[in-house]
Amino acid sequence: MIGHNIKSIKGREILDSRGYPTIEVALATESGIYIASVPSGTSTGKYEAKELRDGGDRYLGLGVQKAIENINQIIAPALCGKNPQEQQEIDNLMIKLDGTPDKSKLGANAILGVSIAVLRAGAGAEGVPLWQWIAEIAKTKPLLPFPCLLYVEGGVHGRGNVDAQEFMVTLEDDSFHEQLRLGTETYHALREILNKKLGKASTNVGLEGGFTPPVQETEDVLDLIMEATKKNGAKNLKIIIDMAAGTFFKNDRYYFEGESFDQKDLTIFYTKLCQKYPIAGIEDPFAEDDWVGFKGITQNLGQKINIIGDDLLATNIQRIQEAQKNGACNALILKPNQAGTVSETVKAAKLALEHNWDVFVKHRSGETCDTFLADLAVGLGTGFLMAGAPNRGERVAKYNRVLMIEQEWQNYYC
Ligand code: PGA
Repeated sequence: MIGHNIKSIKGREILDSRGYPTIEVALATESGIYIASVPSGTSTGKYEAKELRDGGDRYLGLGVQKAIENINQIIAPALCGKNPQEQQEIDNLMIKLDGTPDKSKLGANAILGVSIAVLRAGAGAEGVPLWQWIAEIAKTKPLLPFPCLLYVEGGVHGRGNVDAQEFMVTLEDDSFHEQLRLGTETYHALREILNKKLGKASTNVGLEGGFTPPVQETEDVLDLIMEATKKNGAKNLKIIIDMAAGTFFKNDRYYFEGESFDQKDLTIFYTKLCQKYPIAGIEDPFAEDDWVGFKGITQNLGQKINIIGDDLLATNIQRIQEAQKNGACNALILKPNQAGTVSETVKAAKLALEHNWDVFVKHRSGETCDTFLADLAVGLGTGFLMAGAPNRGERVAKYNRVLMIEQEWQNYYC
C-alpha cells in the first residue's frame, strides 16, 4: 500500500513576475511530489502576515534564503511523517513553531509555501482535484467564479498615470469561458482605442497586465473602458475600482488627482462616480486605519455596491470580525499570503460568506505561475476571481486553470 505521509519538504529560491525572489516548496510523499510557490505584494498593508527577506545587498535585500533555511531546518523536521490531510493541525503546528502574531520569525512566505504544498498532497492522497479537496475540508459548496479582469493599472502599479490602482471589469455571460472570452475581447478593443487615441506606448502594461495609458483622471479611464465595451457590444458591464487609498493618504488627508480630500469629500467623489458609471464595487476607498471613512461610505453606498476591504481587513479574522461588528465594509478581498496559512485563509472566507459578504479571491502584483488561487476560488465557492489582466503568463495561468476546472466540473456535476 502507498503511504501518503510526508517524506520530505524542501524550499528553493525562485523569481516572481517582478524579478524579485520568492519561495517554491517541493513536498514529497510516497505517492508523489507536490509543488507550491508564493506571491508577494507591492502595495502591502501593515496588518498582513510578514514575509521574511534577507536584507543586505543580494537581490536588493529581497533574497529569501533565511526563509528557506527555516523551511528546510525547522519546518521540515517537524512535519515529516505527518498525514498531509491534517491541514488544520499542520498549519497550527507551523503557527506554534513561529510563535509570533505576524509570522515574522519563520516568515509568512515560508509557512504559506509549505501550507499550500501540504494541501496539494492532501488532495493527492484523496485522489481528487485540488478544488474539490478544498471544498471537502472547508465544507463549502464549489462554484465557478466570475473573472474580474483587470484593464487599466495606475497608482504604484502604473507609471505615473492615474492615481487609482486598478480598474477591473466583469461581463455577464452563460459560462466562465464565455465571460473570459467576452472580457478578453473587450480588453483587446480597449487596446485598439488606446492605440488610436494616445499612441502605441499607451498600451504598455503594468505589474498585473493592465494597460498604463498616460491618463490622469479616474473619469477619463472609465470613459475609455465604456467606449471599449460599447465597441464590443458587451452587456451587463460591471466595474470594480481598487483605489488602494492608503497609497495617497498622508497626515489625515487624501491627495488625489491634484487635490486634497477629507473623508466626506472623497465619499462625495465616489458617490458621483457611482451615479455616472456602472460601478459594482470599490476596493480600499480609504486607508487601512480609516474606520470612520469606511463606515461612512458603507452607510452611504453599501446598499448598492460592494465596499471591499483589502488592506483594511488583510485576510485577518479579527479585523473581519471588527468590520462586521461596526459595518465598515460589506465584501472581502481574500489573499492567502496576507493570512499566511491555508486554514486561516479558509476561515476568513467562511466568516465573510456566512455574513453574506461577497468574497474576491485575489492575486498579488508579484506572482508565480502557481494556480492555487483558481482552485481556491472554485473550492470555496467565493464567486469571484481577480487574477489580473488577460495578459502575462502568471495572470492567465489562473484563468486557464479555471477553464480546465470547468471541464473537470462536467465530470462531477453534469
Ligand atoms: P499588491 O497589489 O499585490 O501590490 O498589494 C494588490 C492588488 O492587486 O490588490
